[in-house]
Amino acid sequence: MENTSKLKYVTLGLLLVFAIISTAYYAINTVVKTTPALSAEIESMPSSDELVTSTVIKLQIGSPVMTVNGKEQPIDENGTVPIVKNNRTLLPVRTVVEAMGGAVKWEYTDETLTLTHGSDVFRLTIGSTTAYINDNPKTLDTTPVIINSRTMLPIRLIAESFGFNVVWDSFDSMVTITASESSKVNSITANTKNKDQIPIDSAKRKVLVAYFSHTGNTREIANQIHEKVGGDTVEIVTVKPYPTDYDTVVDQAKREQEADFRPELATKVKNMDSYDVIFVGYPIWWGTMPMAVFSFLEGYDFSGKTIVPFCTHEGSNLGQSISDIKKLCPQSNILDGHAFRGSNVKNAQNDLSEWLRKLGMIE
Ligand SMILES: Cc1cc2nc3c(=O)[nH]c(=O)nc-3n(C[C@H](O)[C@H](O)[C@H](O)COP(=O)(O)O)c2cc1C
Repeated sequence: MENTSKLKYVTLGLLLVFAIISTAYYAINTVVKTTPALSAEIESMPSSDELVTSTVIKLQIGSPVMTVNGKEQPIDENGTVPIVKNNRTLLPVRTVVEAMGGAVKWEYTDETLTLTHGSDVFRLTIGSTTAYINDNPKTLDTTPVIINSRTMLPIRLIAESFGFNVVWDSFDSMVTITASESSKVNSITANTKNKDQIPIDSAKRKVLVAYFSHTGNTREIANQIHEKVGGDTVEIVTVKPYPTDYDTVVDQAKREQEADFRPELATKVKNMDSYDVIFVGYPIWWGTMPMAVFSFLEGYDFSGKTIVPFCTHEGSNLGQSISDIKKLCPQSNILDGHAFRGSNVKNAQNDLSEWLRKLGMIE
């Protein structure tokens, strides 16, 4: 009996020792096995810098001022404000899409708005609840409406289709639209990647600064670029000058755009072949380049050359000019371009230098 008890204690003791050893072994093994995997996972996670959102757009109900990455700017020259109608927040589509880095084209004939962002295309029609995202039909829960010459719509579906997030803060009636760097990259095609950050090879930089200017703003920026980067400069001039009266030129520009007209140019560049980098400057006219710049880009073979677009504008930024240039010069390396406020060109030195530095064109 005594021996049986002893045997029981010994067996229990052995079992206990076995349990302790196997628990310790399992714990050590688990730590050893998971640590490298865990650290690899941590290494592959984006750093906090990479997680910082690259675009933050804020609009407030009733306010004609918006902020883009913390910078205040008027929504547009019409004093458009976001409104609430039938419990829906309506935002001006053009302004928001352009602030996202997209482009907007308005077709008068069938009242259709085509919004593009990278390779994504969103089409909607005034008065219709059917929209098309990359040709797939989607039902909007409210129809786009025109208020004060601006197309207004709840922005969530469009923003999310372009890889942005929308947050509504009812406390201060604020809509915040954000895009992370990764979502931006995801929705941008290879052709439209932010190549502005790739410095142009210094050995390949015979530069031409070509520009069109009606009232001198773009000329001012072109002269500043030429002063800083050197090379040659040429003004794109039409055979038939544009009228100087504002309303008349606005009407003519619209008619030319609607007709897809190509004005004849007096400017001839004989040695275009010798240039590697061509800065192309223009004012934004009706959301894109004046048709004279279309004539210029179609008039030469820019294959294999780097085109650096820049514009002056009064609210549209680059509008849809970049996608138009890409259509006209499909074989060229087209940089993202830079937009300058027409009314502020005299104070654009720092902005301009920073941009040229980023391009690798100046030290
Ligand atoms: C015919 C015409 C159309 C214009 N359309 C737009 C436009 O769609 N968006 C915009 O922001 N500014 C527009 N503007 C303003 C010009 O882009 C702006 O004033 C520019 O700086 C003028 O440049 P320039 O002095 O080199 O001609 C337009 C101006 C004119 C004359």
